Amino acid sequence: MGSIRELTLRGMTRVAATKLVSRPGYPLRRFVRLIDPLIRLASPIPIPPETLMYEGPKGAALYLLNGFEYMAYLRNFCGMKQDTHILDIGCGVARKAGPIIWTLDASGSYNGFDIVADAIDWCNSRYGSRKNLKFVHADIVNGYYNPQGAGDASSFTFPYASERFDILLASSLFTHLLPATTQQYLNEARRVMRPEGHFLATFFVLDEEVRRLIRQGQSTYTFKHKAADCWLQHLNEPEHVVAYEKDLLEHMLLRSSFTIEDYLPGSWCGRSRYTAYQDIYILRPR
Ligand SMILES: C[S@@+](CC[C@H](N)C(=O)[O-])C[C@H]1O[C@@H](n2cnc3c(N)ncnc32)[C@H](O)[C@@H]1O
Repeated sequence: MGSIRELTLRGMTRVAATKLVSRPGYPLRRFVRLIDPLIRLASPIPIPPETLMYEGPKGAALYLLNGFEYMAYLRNFCGMKQDTHILDIGCGVARKAGPIIWTLDASGSYNGFDIVADAIDWCNSRYGSRKNLKFVHADIVNGYYNPQGAGDASSFTFPYASERFDILLASSLFTHLLPATTQQYLNEARRVMRPEGHFLATFFVLDEEVRRLIRQGQSTYTFKHKAADCWLQHLNEPEHVVAYEKDLLEHMLLRSSFTIEDYLPGSWCGRSRYTAYQDIYILRPR
């Protein structure tokens, strides 16, 4: 990696890590929207049109900053380097992938898959066919993102050989999966992960502190609807937003043979001390 690229990476990662603009509702968001056209022109990382940003905050600056924020987590908590082999589960429109791909050299690799065909088409159109880079469309059902899908998510086998990846990322994926699919995806993640690997997975996790913040009206979500082994924000659209009880989730993680290296609570429920918006688990093979 050239020195300008390394400096830019460090700079962007540091700015993103301050969360001045990526923090929910923060007023600087409005300011960065004004410089979006400039950012689009100058960015070495491809940015999708806003009509395709169906899965997160809209705008060029927020798209990039969110990617660099997660890059900081992958570097700090999972030891990501230029030669790392990474799988991004539910990669969407490459929000987290852009900075990762920009960082990797030819000895590293990035693979991402998602169930939304338009997202994967855009990723392939912008990132082309580099040998160490692959975006795959899996046409499976999610009631919110791909209701017409053909395959069953709760029995889906990831299209990768066992023990292939050093780092797995599932950002804002399990917040849309019901328990049977979550357990299957955890099992599959464990299968494709190398014995010394790391898995960064985000969730909405419920415990006593979160319930108190919800009662106090501090939380973005209230998760009033109890379903089998999870809690839902919208009863009529279960996979729109899903939360798990901490004890039950950690039991599921254990069942898939993970150990918890770190738990980093998020800001979504109104905590004043947090790492990201969602709750992050750093998992290692058991
Ligand atoms: C909130 S978006 C997050 C996208 C991306 N990971 C990010 O952080 O920007 C959730 C993504 O999960 C994908 N998704 C939902 N169910 C899935 C499944 N069963 N397998 C793979 N991806 C899925 C959706 O299509 C969507 O792109």
